[in-house]
Amino acid sequence: MSWINSLMARSFGRKPKTTPQPGFVFSPAPAAREDTINKKTAASTAAFPRFQSTAGDQLSPRLNDRFAAARIKLRSAFTPSQPITDKRMFAGRIDVLTTLIRSLEDQRVHVILYGERGIGKTSLVHVLTQAAEEARYIVVYCSCGAGSNFDEIFRAVAADVPLLFHRGFAPTADAAEKGGTLADLLPPGPLSPRLVADLFAKLTGTRLLVVLDEFDVCESPDFRRNIAELIKNLSDRSIRTQLVIAGVAADLTELVQHIPSIRRNIFALQVPKMSAAEISHLVENGEEISGVTFDKAALDYIVFVANGSPYFASLLSHHSGLTAIDNGRVKVTLDDVSTAVDQALAEFRGRISKHSQAQIDQAAKSGVRHVLGVMAGAALFNSGRFDGRDVDALYPSAANAATFKATIDELAAKHVLLEVHEDEYGRGYRFSEEAVLPYLWILAAQKRFLENRKTADVRLEVPKPGDKIAVEKPQLQDKTAQPAITTGRAAGQS
Ligand SMILES: Nc1ncnc2c1ncn2[C@@H]1O[C@H](COP(=O)(O)OP(=O)(O)OP(=O)(O)O)[C@@H](O)[C@H]1O
Ligand SMILES: [Mg+2]
Repeated sequence: MSWINSLMARSFGRKPKTTPQPGFVFSPAPAAREDTINKKTAASTAAFPRFQSTAGDQLSPRLNDRFAAARIKLRSAFTPSQPITDKRMFAGRIDVLTTLIRSLEDQRVHVILYGERGIGKTSLVHVLTQAAEEARYIVVYCSCGAGSNFDEIFRAVAADVPLLFHRGFAPTADAAEKGGTLADLLPPGPLSPRLVADLFAKLTGTRLLVVLDEFDVCESPDFRRNIAELIKNLSDRSIRTQLVIAGVAADLTELVQHIPSIRRNIFALQVPKMSAAEISHLVENGEEISGVTFDKAALDYIVFVANGSPYFASLLSHHSGLTAIDNGRVKVTLDDVSTAVDQALAEFRGRISKHSQAQIDQAAKSGVRHVLGVMAGAALFNSGRFDGRDVDALYPSAANAATFKATIDELAAKHVLLEVHEDEYGRGYRFSEEAVLPYLWILAAQKRFLENRKTADVRLEVPKPGDKIAVEKPQLQDKTAQPAITTGRAAGQS
């Protein structure tokens, strides 16, 4: 394929045989120079950009913008770069939460929550934490870092548990009254899982929930082994302490290599992508908090592009809401979402290496970028992986599917955006750079949504499993489940 060869030539830095681009002309023509001077004058007289609210979220007194208050509210209604901490902003996931609470409360097991980046794991554990605190659990939340170690984390946990709940101290005892904590009882030197379990065994009158979020970030085998041992100790002795572990992973084994011995004691749940109804709910929550509303076409567009990702939905709602406000409206239209999609694309493109950007542009010229985008939509919720079944779902005609598979094979063979990936599910493909996935998917979704509106002028259905565009593989997820572990997806989730 000649386009692949030309793409390879670009990748390896050969000079293109093209005439110089206008951008390389040294001196602009006189008319252009005049234009530049006029623009400069206009720019120098324009108001210098400034913040519109103070750090305390107060409106700047110098601003006379009646929409400034709406802007502040919108910023806290949609927080794409932060997890949800306020229950009012938390959408959907009722079944997931119910399942989690039941397993903690009825089965008294430890919980592992895993799933794709940005799928909502941290938001979920925050809401779970609130529910547990309402039931008077002591909850200690720890966000793991690359250098986290067992000793440091469990000293911090012990420092959050008042001595008052230690069996050896009466509530009126001096140390308990003076605000002592379990950390006061720990010896110097590195803590072992056994020692921590001994300490927690003395808890009375409460239950302790230790949340270890971003567990995947800490790759230390020692840390993971210690956690596994702690779970074993806590379970064997029915100690009133449970762990909730959350992290990015395609399957459970990836997250907890050292845990085979404790399979009976954990409940593992893969956080699923959100349904269309849940994404709509997310936008509606934001409407209520901000007072900014989204018209039906705008909402349809957000739901379609989000493809089940709360992160995409939050990002697009945030950007489109601000665009509407900038235009003096509190009603978001389809055009505002279009602008938001363009902004998101620019953001995502900026996160991709120049090398992959060039390959994507070349793929666009050759007409394969769109289908790669649809594959990216499938791979987004499958650790960047897709395979022949996704292609078959996209192309009902076997001949077309075969042609596209040949193209994919050629791309992968030449390491253009894709790599072949052989695993226990057979031959598949992976995008060579994680950052290309959201960019390619959003480009494809944008094209598809706008074309459908133009040609049929009907409301576009949200992609469903088996639908031509949203390619999912439920059977793959079933296989990832470890038979010996209590795994589960909440009832009602596909
Ligand atoms: N149930 C929800 N309702 C509303 N917004 C949500 C919900 N879940 C997640 N979000 C939004 O989606 C984004 C990602 O959420 P969150 O940080 O919880 O994901 P995560 O899986 O922990 O991500 P990471 O893998 O990066 O740790 C955030 O902007 C958050 O506000
Ligand atoms: Mg997180």
